[in-house]
Amino acid sequence: MIFCKGISSLNTVLNSKEFRNKSLGFVPTMGALHQGHLSLIRKAKAENDFVVCSIFVNPTQFNNPEDLKLYPRTLDKDAMLLAAENCDILFAPEADEMYPDGLKKESADDYGYFIHVLEGAHRPGHFDGVVTIVRRLFELVNPNKVYFGQKDYQQCLVVRELINRMNANLSFVMCPVVREEDGLAMSSRNVRLSEAERKASLVLSQALFQLSNSWEENSWVDALQASRDLIQNNPLVKLDYLVVCDPNSLKELDSFQPNAIALVAALCGSTRLIDNVIMS
Ligand code: PAJ
Repeated sequence: MIFCKGISSLNTVLNSKEFRNKSLGFVPTMGALHQGHLSLIRKAKAENDFVVCSIFVNPTQFNNPEDLKLYPRTLDKDAMLLAAENCDILFAPEADEMYPDGLKKESADDYGYFIHVLEGAHRPGHFDGVVTIVRRLFELVNPNKVYFGQKDYQQCLVVRELINRMNANLSFVMCPVVREEDGLAMSSRNVRLSEAERKASLVLSQALFQLSNSWEENSWVDALQASRDLIQNNPLVKLDYLVVCDPNSLKELDSFQPNAIALVAALCGSTRLIDNVIMS
């Protein structure tokens, strides 16, 4: 694996004979890699000649300075994990190269209804930071296919819209949520959970599975309430939202619809976790 610390080394490698005119898959990450991230690398490896992974903890998408400070940084271990997956290039730039004019971000306000709800409402400015950095990364790497996780479903909608607007010849691939054996969605933030919080965090996936198993026309309102109760009855968990939405607009459903998505966000201790399940 080639390690590119900066933009000029990335350019040199991408323009070299070995990489020119080859299909390139790209997996952007913020590091602290786990099997969820690695599943994207594997999928990208299977579908492209070469794979680039970026690791950059993007300051402009953190609306909470404490969250940014506490975000785990494990670059050496990440590099080993990526090398073991035969990732071809690791791009790990510094903030001053990604933001040469300071931490300015573009606005994604006009992306549509889905930008303003859920994470958009709970983390003001978050998606502005995401589109700013993802656009910059896409322009630098210039990939053919990009890989994102359904774990951040709303982010997938946002990036899909960004790609539409960039008019780029870029395929978007959404990969399924990878979970721990007991159901908790893998996340770089899970390491911050205490033992008791880790146990308590299970109510998130349990609530989603319970809801998806009883997703029927006659009982969906009761099922949603029962899942909310399951989370709210746990003293270590503070529910931000558990909603059932249209999968494209993220408008909350007011009547039954066969294709829907249930999304949840909650604070577990001081760690904010999100998860979702697509219902059919
Ligand atoms: P990060 O949270 O590191 O996630 C990088 C990619 O891994 C995202 O596409 C995310 O959805 C995916 N991912 C995380 N956990 C997953 C899981 N359990 N199963 C499957 N995929 C999973 O998302 C970001 O970074 C940033 O916002 C980024 C896009 C890199 C922009 O800064």
